[in-house]
Amino acid sequence: MSITTIHKDPDTAVLPERIRGFPFPYSGDSYRYSANVEPAGKTVTTEAGAWGGRLLDIDEYYLPDVKEREGVLDRDPSRLQVLPHMRPAVWDAIATLLPAMAEENPGTMSFRREGKNCRWQNTLQNLDVEFTIGDDSSLPMGPLRFLGSQIQDDMVFLDQREDALWLDAGLVTFAADWSLKFDVGMKFHEIHGPVPRVKEEQIVSRAEQFLMRLQPGEKYRRTNWTMTIDRRLDTSTETYPNWAQDRGTIAEDPALPDRVHLRVEVQHLIRLPHSGAILFLVRTYLLPLSDIARVPVWRERMGRVLAELPEDMAEYKGISRYRKTASDWLLAG
Ligand code: HEM
Repeated sequence: MSITTIHKDPDTAVLPERIRGFPFPYSGDSYRYSANVEPAGKTVTTEAGAWGGRLLDIDEYYLPDVKEREGVLDRDPSRLQVLPHMRPAVWDAIATLLPAMAEENPGTMSFRREGKNCRWQNTLQNLDVEFTIGDDSSLPMGPLRFLGSQIQDDMVFLDQREDALWLDAGLVTFAADWSLKFDVGMKFHEIHGPVPRVKEEQIVSRAEQFLMRLQPGEKYRRTNWTMTIDRRLDTSTETYPNWAQDRGTIAEDPALPDRVHLRVEVQHLIRLPHSGAILFLVRTYLLPLSDIARVPVWRERMGRVLAELPEDMAEYKGISRYRKTASDWLLAG
């Protein structure tokens, strides 16, 4: 008989919200890819707290994150792409996400709609706007950029045709080492071309079949993870020279535990009710190893996952040069 002890951090109640609400992604001491989807909205409890109770999580980084997105878009408008046939899907997303966000934040946000006329109030941004569904000129910055200014998530829109899914629109300022401009117009399975293992293991084809069967209004979610040096949301291919070289020097840096972050994406998959497009929301959370280490179960589990991760997966995630140092630090306690 074996007895499993669940180590609870005695100080969980005093941990800061960024740790208590963090979607820690590992359920065991090793990690492999899978089509890990589950219905959205269910709260997941962790050793430090809980996450997942809301579709559009608003946290302490809300204002800085949306400001950061604005800056990225000003510097590089190619992070927003809409092929002409996807305009209705963007309006469908507005009519779906704003009411959902108002419902989740009744003290600070409200959405009212009569026919096509809408009013959106967001006191966190001192905002009170009226607009008309379907009329791009009713939102001066355009509908997709406007929606991106209200939520922390990146957005990707997939069109379904010819028995496949196509990435035909999106607003992605916080990509984990990929490029929306490069991927727009591509098929779901082409987009996953660079990912090791997933083709052989039929993960991509099974995920695509699952997504193509989603019914209007259905919402699912999954998590994905990688690692990033510093709290840097924009690790797009376009800004590669700004962030990639840190990966080669961080193992020697005594500040590694504060600089290396576990980067977790909570990804929602929603069949939009009117356009029939699939909306893929990607919400990025970053937590430094020094914070991970404040939760003993997380410290040990992440240390073991990093030590055990096969080299092809570590290489793809861009962590192969420092994952051993990070793992050793975590496991040293
Ligand atoms: C159930 C659905 C899905 C599964 C199982 C899945 C699986 C994966 C996996 C395993 C990776 C590698 C992640 C890493 O190691 O960091 C990945 C990367 C990626 N996924 Fe997905 N994914 C799904 C949905 C989507 C959707 C809907 C999109 C939007 C079109 C998407 C776009 C991407 C992109 C752009 C990358 C980065 C590829 C690159 O390196 O260029 N995924 N996905």
